[in-house]
Amino acid sequence: MTDTGDTNTLTVRDNRTGKEYEIPITDGTIKAGDLSQIRTDDETPGLATYDPGFVNTASCKSSVTFIDGEKGILEYRGYPIEQLAEKSNFLEVAYLLIHGELPSKPQYDTWVHEITHHTFLHENVKTFMQGFRYDAHPMGMLMASVGALSTFYPESGNISDPDNRHMQMVRMIAKMPTLGAWAFRHAQGKPYVYPDNELSYTANFLSMLFKMSEHRFDADERLVKALDVLFILHADHEQNCSTNAVRSVGSSQVDPYSAVAAGVGALYGPLHGGANEAVLRMLRRIGSKENIPDFIKGVKDGNEKLMGFGHRVYKNYDPRAKIIKKACDDVFEVTGVNPLLEIARELEKIALEDEYFIKRKLYPNVDFYSGLIYEAFQFPPEMFTVLFAIGRTPGWLAQWLELVQDKEQKIARPKQIYTGERTLDFVPAAERWS
Ligand code: COA
Repeated sequence: MTDTGDTNTLTVRDNRTGKEYEIPITDGTIKAGDLSQIRTDDETPGLATYDPGFVNTASCKSSVTFIDGEKGILEYRGYPIEQLAEKSNFLEVAYLLIHGELPSKPQYDTWVHEITHHTFLHENVKTFMQGFRYDAHPMGMLMASVGALSTFYPESGNISDPDNRHMQMVRMIAKMPTLGAWAFRHAQGKPYVYPDNELSYTANFLSMLFKMSEHRFDADERLVKALDVLFILHADHEQNCSTNAVRSVGSSQVDPYSAVAAGVGALYGPLHGGANEAVLRMLRRIGSKENIPDFIKGVKDGNEKLMGFGHRVYKNYDPRAKIIKKACDDVFEVTGVNPLLEIARELEKIALEDEYFIKRKLYPNVDFYSGLIYEAFQFPPEMFTVLFAIGRTPGWLAQWLELVQDKEQKIARPKQIYTGERTLDFVPAAERWS
C-alpha cells in the first residue's frame, strides 16, 4: 500500500525498570530495532520480539502484490486477479509483476520475443537431467537443474548490473517450462522434447510435455487458456514461504538461479505446494455424494481436515478458487468430466452452509479445484507442484528484484533465544569413554 505518511507513536512502560519509551509507528508497524533500547541494565541485551514463522512480522516493504484476506482480494501491482485472469495472459502478467506496470505494444513484443528465444537449454543440462534416477521426483529435478543454471551463466552473480539482471530473469522464465517438461518426460522414460518457438509460452509447454512423433503438437486452445490462467493465479502471493526463501537466500547477494532454487525447495514441502494432491486423495476416499455427510461429521469431530479449505490469510472465499472453479468447466468440456468434480461441488455446498465452517471462516482455497484440473490434463500428482513453480517464477523474480534494489534490506539473519548449556568444560573422548 502507499505510504500515508502518518506517523504515530507507541508508549511502552517497562515494568521491570519503570522506564517509559516512545516508539514511532509507521505503516501500522514499529521497527523491531527500536525495541532494543529497552533494557534493564547495560549488560543484558535489549528487548526483542519472538515470532516463529513470522506470523506478525513484516520483513520488507513491497509494491508487488496486495492481499486482503478478510475481503478475499488479491491484486498484482494494483490490478485485481479476476481481471488479469480474464483479460491478460501469463507473459503479460509476468512483465507486469517484474516491471511494475503493463507493457506498451513494443515492450510486450520485445518481452515475448526475448522469452520465446531463451527457452532452449544448454545440451549439458540435458545430460545432467538424464543422470537422475528413473523415478526421480520432478520437483527434485527442477530444484537441482534451476540451481545448476548458475554454473552455465556465471555472470549471473553480477546482480548490481540491471542489464545482467534482466537477462537472467528472461532466461529463468523462459527455461522453467523446459526444465519442468523434461523432468516429466524423464519419469516416463520418453525422449525430451525441444521447445517450439512458433508456439505460445503455454502451448509450447504442453508440446514439450506431450508431443510424440507428430510434426507439431497442437493443444486444444481451451486447455492452453486454462493452463495459462492457472499460471496467472499462481504468479505471486506476497510473502509466502517460498518467496521468503527466495528473498532470504537472495539477501546474501547470490545469483538469482540459486535464490530461485531455494524457492523451489520451499515449494516442494507438503505444507506449501502439496495440498491439491491431498484434496484428490480425500475426494477419492469419499467416493460418492452419499458419503459426504459422514465425512463432514468426521471433520467436525476433529478426526480429519477438509483439505482445500481454510487459509492462513484468506478468511473469505479465496479469489483464485473462484476463478479455478469456473475454469473447470472449460477444461472438462474438452477432457470429459472428472467424476470427482461432482463430489467436490457437493462437498463445498454442504460445507459452506455448515455452522462449523461458517464460524471458523473456512472457505475453499486455491487447491480445492486445481488438482481436479491438473488431473484432467493427465498430470501425475508429483507434477502439480512443478506447475505451481513455473507459474510462481515471475513472482519470485519480481520479489528478488525488489529486494536487491531496496536500500533498507540487509542480509537475512534472525535472532534466536538461546536455550542450551553454557561454558561447559570439554572432556576428551578418551577420558569420557574410559
Ligand atoms: N478442515 C477442518 N477444520 C479446519 C480446517 C480444515 N481444512 N482448517 C482449519 N480448521 C479449523 C481448525 O481446526 C481450527 O479449529 P478450532 O478453532 O476449533 O481449533 C480453526 O479452523 C482455525 O484453524 P487454524 O489451524 O488455526 O488455521 P491456520 O491459519 O493455522 O491454518 C491452514 C491454515 C491452510 C493450514 C488450514 O486451514 C488447513 O490445514 N487447511 C487444509 C490444508 C489446505 O488446504 N492447505 C492449502 C492452503 S493454500
